[in-house]
Amino acid sequence: MTRPLSFVVAMGENRVIGRDNRLIWRIKSDLKFFRQNTIGRPVIMGRKTFLSIGKPLPGRENIVLSRETGFAPEGVHVAGSIDEALRLGEELADKMGADEIAVAGGADVYAQLMPFVSKIVLTRVKAAPEGDAFFPAFDEGQFTVSFHEEHVAGPEDDHDFAFIIHERIMA
Ligand SMILES: NC(=O)c1ccc[n+]([C@@H]2O[C@H](COP(=O)([O-])OP(=O)(O)OC[C@H]3O[C@@H](n4cnc5c(N)ncnc54)[C@H](OP(=O)(O)O)[C@@H]3O)[C@@H](O)[C@H]2O)c1
Repeated sequence: MTRPLSFVVAMGENRVIGRDNRLIWRIKSDLKFFRQNTIGRPVIMGRKTFLSIGKPLPGRENIVLSRETGFAPEGVHVAGSIDEALRLGEELADKMGADEIAVAGGADVYAQLMPFVSKIVLTRVKAAPEGDAFFPAFDEGQFTVSFHEEHVAGPEDDHDFAFIIHERIMA
């Protein structure tokens, strides 16, 4: 890989990220942060996350992972393996002049791409609702925090939250 791979994820205090294939909070500021960190880049996601979003993310090249051969929704690139998704990500980043490839989840895809990630753009939500999808544990010792901003919930946010960027320490 020639470009950094960045995860963009909102996680609760219990590592929860979703329930019944949807988000479990409404935090408008986080949607803006997600956009800022993915716009103009190729974005890799699993089929379940794509179905949960419901449409291709505008202003980005959407790469959707699926092993189903018949899966071919309009407006996205389908990848049948992690290798293919990363290859496509590089190719599309070249065309777009993008500096990074983003990963938008979900749990299954984050877990498989964890060995390759160089940056984790995390929204740490100050709540622990029940869920069925969790962000995988990662070794924080292998990362340094390059950005940390605490936020009190605004009128359109369900909970307080913090934006934290972890960057992998290069050996
Ligand atoms: N809070 C957040 O930041 C955030 C972000 C994203 C998602 N989420 C939540 O996470 C949950 C979804 O996560 P999830 O783990 O259930 O599903 P997911 O990772 O979104 O999608 C899993 C699907 O991706 C495909 N896939 C995975 N690995 C593959 C591989 N190596 N090769 C080819 N295809 C592959 C398979 O699709 P096929 O079955 O078609 O083969 C698999 O069923 C939802 O609740 C969503 O709301 C939260």
